Amino acid sequence: MKKILVANWKLNPVSAEDAVRLARAIDRKGVTICPPFPYLPFVGRALRRAILGAQDAFWEERGPYTGEVSPEILKSLQVKTVIIGHSERRRWLGETDEMIHKKLVAAHAAGLNVILCVGEPKDVRKRGLAAAKSYVARQLRIDLRGVSRNHLVIAYEPIWAIGTHTPDRPADTVRMALHIKKFARVPVLYGGSVTSKNAKKFLQYKEIDGALVGGASLKATEFKKIINHGYV
Ligand code: PGA
Repeated sequence: MKKILVANWKLNPVSAEDAVRLARAIDRKGVTICPPFPYLPFVGRALRRAILGAQDAFWEERGPYTGEVSPEILKSLQVKTVIIGHSERRRWLGETDEMIHKKLVAAHAAGLNVILCVGEPKDVRKRGLAAAKSYVARQLRIDLRGVSRNHLVIAYEPIWAIGTHTPDRPADTVRMALHIKKFARVPVLYGGSVTSKNAKKFLQYKEIDGALVGGASLKATEFKKIINHGYV
């Protein structure tokens, strides 16, 4: 089975030129590239094989919501997929599961594929995998209330593993992926300090359907190594 590789650029790079250069370098089938909003039209025009994704979308279509971007705007820019509920938005922008739920419903209504991010903080994981499972279950119960399982992918991203060089243990990720699949029979990705050195350790499992890659997606040579493992 082919896997899904998502490049989540976050707030990088800092120029449209660099964004287009990077997009061209990692433009491969099976890859979804999620640049910052302003780069979407440029990156979209540069891509031939990869899918264009966005990092967030608001729940309203239009109106007095300064700074927000709606799923309809993204659709008009040829965006196919959107990340919803990333832990950095939960942390820095105060996004709650209620808000994430509304965003998910709106993105689906506009015809976008959604990558929903869930994952537990460190203090929860310290209490063990069972505690992490119930934390994630709570997120999923709210985020997915009445939501279609079509056009949906879930990314399991333990917060303590993101950008820390401390990835999850792949065997634990497999257990969490199976747990998540009980809530929704959808592809489950792993995210959190994925590199060309450890990607295989996750992608070799049939229960893990791909990876959401942050830091390592900003270095073309590094990301190409992950692509070249042959899973996408
Ligand atoms: P990272 O980020 O690969 O830099 O840990 C992953 C993510 O937050 O999507």
